Amino acid sequence: MDRIRLVGGNELNGELPISGAKNAALPLMIASLLTKDPLVLNNVPRLADVKQLERILENHGVDISVQGRRRGDDDMQGQRITFTAHDIVDTCAPYELVSTMRASFWVIGPLLARMGEARVSMPGGCAIGTRPVDFYIDGLQQLGAEIEIDGGYVNAKAPGGRLKGGKVVLPRISVGATHVIMMAATLAEGTSVIENAAMEPEVTNLAECLVEMGAKIEGVGTRTLTIQGVEALHGAEVDVIPDRIETGTYAMAVAMTGGNVLLKGANAAHLQAALDVLKETGAEVIEEDDGIRIVKNGNAVKPIDVDVSEYPGFPTDLQAQYMALMSRADGTSTIRETIFENRFMHVSELARLGAHIDVEGQAAEVTGVEHLKGAQVMATDLRASVSLVIAGLAAEGETIVNRIYHLDRGFERLEDKLSRCGAKIERVSG
Ligand code: EPZ
Repeated sequence: MDRIRLVGGNELNGELPISGAKNAALPLMIASLLTKDPLVLNNVPRLADVKQLERILENHGVDISVQGRRRGDDDMQGQRITFTAHDIVDTCAPYELVSTMRASFWVIGPLLARMGEARVSMPGGCAIGTRPVDFYIDGLQQLGAEIEIDGGYVNAKAPGGRLKGGKVVLPRISVGATHVIMMAATLAEGTSVIENAAMEPEVTNLAECLVEMGAKIEGVGTRTLTIQGVEALHGAEVDVIPDRIETGTYAMAVAMTGGNVLLKGANAAHLQAALDVLKETGAEVIEEDDGIRIVKNGNAVKPIDVDVSEYPGFPTDLQAQYMALMSRADGTSTIRETIFENRFMHVSELARLGAHIDVEGQAAEVTGVEHLKGAQVMATDLRASVSLVIAGLAAEGETIVNRIYHLDRGFERLEDKLSRCGAKIERVSG
C-alpha cells in the first residue's frame, strides 16, 4: 500500500489550484440518471470516489466520455465529462459497487423517479458514525414510494410507475437526503415541498443543475425547497463548484506552517465561517479576483473555540484539520462535533505527533504544544487522513502517513500541489 512521506518545517508559498468539489461532483453525476439526454459536467476532479461512481453509473447503462486534453490545458485543470443515460439497463445498485461509498446510495432517487423502481444496497463509506438511511426512506415514502428492506437491500417501487408530490419535513438537516428527495421530486406528479432542507453549496450546485435540466424548483439556497414535478428533464452543461473543503484544508495548512499561498479558483462565499475563524487564529485571509490568499507570518496561533454545524456554519469536514491547527495554538481551545457521533478518530493519531487532546463525548479540548514531532500515523477516514498530513507539514522531522487510499478518495494530486508550494512531501509505493 502507498504511503505519504513528509518532512515538516517548511513554509508554504506560491499558488495552489483548487479542484472541483468531490461532494458536488458526485450528486451532479447521479443527476445524469434523470434524463435520456447528455449531461456535461465541467471541472470534475480526478478522484477515486469519482471513478467508483463512474463504475456504478456504467452498470446502470450510463455512457461516459471524458474529453481529451486540449492545447493549452494544464495538468491541474478539471475534467470535462459527458454522462448519457439514454437507456437505463439495470435499476439495481449491487453491494459490490455501493458498499465502499455512501454517496452511491443516492442513485435510489433518480432511478425510482425515472424508472418507477430501484433496488439499492445499503451504503458503506467512511467510518465516522452509524449514518443510517431512515430520512431517505421516510422522504421517498412521502412521495408515494413503497419500500421494503430485504437482505441488506432497499427495494423501492413507485405505484403506477411514477412518484407523487408530497411534503417532506427532514427531522434534521441532511445533505444526502436533500439531494435524493429533490432529485426524486423533479419527476414526480404534482408539487413537493422539502422542509428543513440542507443549503450547503453542493446542494445549491445540484439544484441549479436540475433547473438547467428543466426542473421547476423554488427556494434554492434556502431551508424550504418547492419542486413542481415535470414529465421529463433534458440535457444541460454545468460547472462543478470549487471544493470548499480542499480550500479550507490548505488554508489551515498555511496557517500552521506560515507562508503566503494563493488558493486559486477558491470561492470565499462558500466558506465564510471557517475563514472568519482562521482570521481570529491570526492568519490573514485576502479575497482576490482569482481566489483566496492566505498569509501567515510567524508561528503564533491563537486558540479559538469552534462548534461545527450545518452550512453556513463551520463544516464538520474541516473539524479534523482545524484540530491539527489548534494542536499548535498558544493555549487551549474546545472543538465540538455536532453532526457525526464518531468523528474524533484522528485524535489518537494527532497524539502520536505530540498533540494534547482530551475528548469528552462530542467535545475535544485541545491544548496547544510548541512543537509537534514527526511519527508514523494512519487514519480511518478521508478528512482525518489529511489532518495528519497538515500536522506533519508543521511537525519537526519525518512523518509517514499510512493507508493513504482515503486521501485519494477526496484530494486530487495532494502531494503535487503541496510540493509546488515548497512542502517536502512524496508518495512512496508499496
Ligand atoms: C455529506 O454526507 C457529505 N458527503 C459528508 O462529507 C459531510 O460530512 C456531510 O454531508 C455533512 O456535511 C457527501 O457529500 C458525499 P448528512 P451525508 O446526511 O449526506 C444523520 C466527506 O468527508 N442522518 O448530512 O451522508 C447522519 O447520521 C464526507 O467528504 C440520519 O440520521 O451526511 C448525520 O448525523 C464525510 N439519517 C446527519 O444526519 C439519515 O437517513 C447529517 O448527515 C441521513 C442522515
